[in-house]
Amino acid sequence: MRIFKPEMAPIKVPNRFELTHQPSVGLALESLIRAYQTVFKEASYWAEIWSREAIQEKLEREVDRQSSFLVTMLGDKEMPIAGFAWGEILAPTNLGPRIAKALQKKPAELDGLIDKLLRFRITKLVYADEFAIVARFRSGIEPVRGLLQPWLEWAWLENQVFSCLFWTTPASPIYKLGLYMGFEPVFWTKVEEKDIVFILNRDFRPLLKICQNMNSRQIARILMAVSRRRRRK
Ligand SMILES: CC(C)(COP(=O)(O)OP(=O)(O)OC[C@H]1O[C@@H](n2cnc3c(N)ncnc32)[C@H](O)[C@@H]1OP(=O)(O)O)[C@@H](O)C(=O)NCCC(=O)NCCS
Repeated sequence: MRIFKPEMAPIKVPNRFELTHQPSVGLALESLIRAYQTVFKEASYWAEIWSREAIQEKLEREVDRQSSFLVTMLGDKEMPIAGFAWGEILAPTNLGPRIAKALQKKPAELDGLIDKLLRFRITKLVYADEFAIVARFRSGIEPVRGLLQPWLEWAWLENQVFSCLFWTTPASPIYKLGLYMGFEPVFWTKVEEKDIVFILNRDFRPLLKICQNMNSRQIARILMAVSRRRRRK
């Protein structure tokens, strides 16, 4: 198995998934805001209420450079955008202020995380601020793959970056899914009584190979095997 340019990959990302490096505007922005509000309100482990202004401000701050990315997944008439992922390629030393703002912490509270990344000799990584799919559009691995593959391809093929980091609550399905996909927990903290865990994939290239070369049934088989092995440990 090898890594292909996106257009040559045996499993290509369907065109309802779109990768860009600019914040959305107009109708696309309104649809993205709606999806964001829906997903973080409906998930009981987040149960967050977000104003449209706060989401717009966050988006403008986090996605406005060529080093940042935004992937959106088209939905239907009622929910034109049904999923999204965004983030940026950064050096570990530049992560502090960005994460601190999102988690309402002081950058120094994240020193333990930065130290750990530096100990792993990571000089650059792709950091995902957000990764979410509106509940009624989740179905198997396809939407997850579609939201993941474009920015892993971009990070590796266009930027030679192969480490990936994000944070979540362990109650989110993404936590276990991440562990099955080669991520490891590297730092724990709390935000308003909620446990928050940072998970790192030091080298996502094997995962990218799987995304580009295997169909959903093969991926599900791998996930099942890994999850069984982890349960036995
Ligand atoms: C995070 C999120 C995108 C994950 O998507 P999801 O569809 O819920 O993910 P799942 O855990 O169901 O896994 C997707 C698929 O992977 C496969 N899979 C997962 N675990 C598996 C296992 N142990 N064995 C085999 N297949 C497995 C299945 O095909 C599964 O689809 P299914 O549930 O229809 O069987 C979604 O839950 C979400 O948007 N949550 C709210 C936002 C959020 O928490 N985001 C993360 C932090 S910002």
